Amino acid sequence: MTLLQLINERMEAALAAAGAPGAPAVVQPASKPEFGDYQANGVMGAAKALRTNPRELAAKVVAHLDLDGIAERVEIAGPGFINIHIHPDWLARRCLTALGDARLGVTPPARRKVMVEYSSVNLAKEMHVGHLRSTIIGDVLARVMDFLEQDVTRANHVGDWGTQFGMLTAYLMEARKTGGDALELNDLEEFYRKAKVRFDESPGFADLARDYVVRLQGGDADVLALWRQFVEVSLEHCQQVYDTLGVSLRREHVKGESSYNDDLPVVVADLDTLGLLKEDEGARVVFLEEFRTQEDKPMGVIIQKKDGGYLYTTTDLGAIRYRHRVLGLDRVLYVVDARQSQHFQQLFLIAKKAGFAPESMELEHIPFGTMLGDDGRPFKTRSGGTVKLIELLAEAVERAYALVAEKNPDLPEEDKRRVARAVGIGAVKYADLSKNRTSDYIFSWDSMLSFEGNTAPYLQYAYTRVQSVFRKAEDYRADAPIVIGEPAEKQLAMALAQFEDVVLFVGESCQPHHLCQYLYHIATLFSRFYEACPILKSEGDVRASRLQLAALTAKTLSTGLGLLGIEVLDAM
Ligand code: ARG
Repeated sequence: MTLLQLINERMEAALAAAGAPGAPAVVQPASKPEFGDYQANGVMGAAKALRTNPRELAAKVVAHLDLDGIAERVEIAGPGFINIHIHPDWLARRCLTALGDARLGVTPPARRKVMVEYSSVNLAKEMHVGHLRSTIIGDVLARVMDFLEQDVTRANHVGDWGTQFGMLTAYLMEARKTGGDALELNDLEEFYRKAKVRFDESPGFADLARDYVVRLQGGDADVLALWRQFVEVSLEHCQQVYDTLGVSLRREHVKGESSYNDDLPVVVADLDTLGLLKEDEGARVVFLEEFRTQEDKPMGVIIQKKDGGYLYTTTDLGAIRYRHRVLGLDRVLYVVDARQSQHFQQLFLIAKKAGFAPESMELEHIPFGTMLGDDGRPFKTRSGGTVKLIELLAEAVERAYALVAEKNPDLPEEDKRRVARAVGIGAVKYADLSKNRTSDYIFSWDSMLSFEGNTAPYLQYAYTRVQSVFRKAEDYRADAPIVIGEPAEKQLAMALAQFEDVVLFVGESCQPHHLCQYLYHIATLFSRFYEACPILKSEGDVRASRLQLAALTAKTLSTGLGLLGIEVLDAM
């Protein structure tokens, strides 16, 4: 049980014993050290409901509160707040248990089948900054779910189907005839651009492209072979970006839109059988009472176009059906841009109405905001083009290299490169993850690469500082007890003991910035502890105990950064 759950449970039992059964205890970490470690704010609400004096009720609750051995002191403050001071010995034991446990004392929640769908790029284009957020955030969620021992499936729902693939395969065919395809496909962006120019300029080519779409959808072996070649090259490019980013997506996680092609007629037939489909100007549409148009009519979601073609939603319905019937998932996280939020609301509603997903299956859109440039507009190159991800990452590493070379010129070249990769990539990821997911944020090299503030380099550096203590300490004893005396020790230990609460909360809320905030807090508290409480200069049990706190700090930082997909270094 987490610390918060434990206190909450005991507090609710006390409320019940004091005559307020079922009243929420509203326990939270104290906002100021003078309020203790935790505060319970539920008494006021409970007193109001019972029409009694809150301070009197608080006194009764405290009389019934059983925190023996856990709290050293419980006080009533103001109108009826209850402040709890955790006992240092209890805290020390809890930290020691975490230190000896591979999962840092975190008890995983019930195991469920969870899918994290992320990255999901459209293969027609090279990966650009617009793909960064889903890829980074989704990867953290997948890592957190793994850590919480969930049965995790990663899914990369790539856009590998649709009309543009007719154009691309037709162009590939042409290029092949002139023997230039290998070269052309080196630069997907260029390839797409040229194909589009051909398409716009030449009616003959446009007809050919349309013909290719039909042949592709009809399963024509030659066209499919070309299409596969195109998909192959695009996926290789994606993999290169994933590897550079240190993202855990592999080829086996790719299941593209094309793979649901055969299910689409079934989706339409099922919706039809259930009476959910209506004809509307030749198209087949599901009308949703829950969504209103501007004229206050039920909003229509097109499932099949007049020409027989299917839409984005149709494919997604096919995917949900598969995810339930074949994979039996309990929870699916769709890590996709906030601008698609209406699509997902409608999709989930239709899926449930049609029984493609049972009520119990949790379908969650995990939206995120836009990455902006200095000018507050979507991030672009100077000339207004899209920024290729692979180039952005190369720049991050270059910039980090310059910093490392300046900070530590004597580091061997190979180490400089290694540190630069970890710092550069870490900085890009952390800058994204540390912001509230749903807000837009400004991409700034200077702030993300700063060694001060809530940044990856700051945390990575904090980690190396802890490690350097261990390099100097020759007598570290892994089984030494922790003894908490100084306030700085208690504050650090208290925060370290909250790791479980934080990780569980991130797993539920899918908001990685809480983990970032937490790690930053730990690094800051360690710094204070390091200044206030000499480690290597102290002696005996005190020294051994402080080393233990340092060890748990290091372990918490490396585990936490690991969940964020950020590398730690022993020196930098
Ligand atoms: N490929 C889509 C795009 O780039 C994102 C796919 C999101 N996932 C989904 N199941 N619809 O916009």
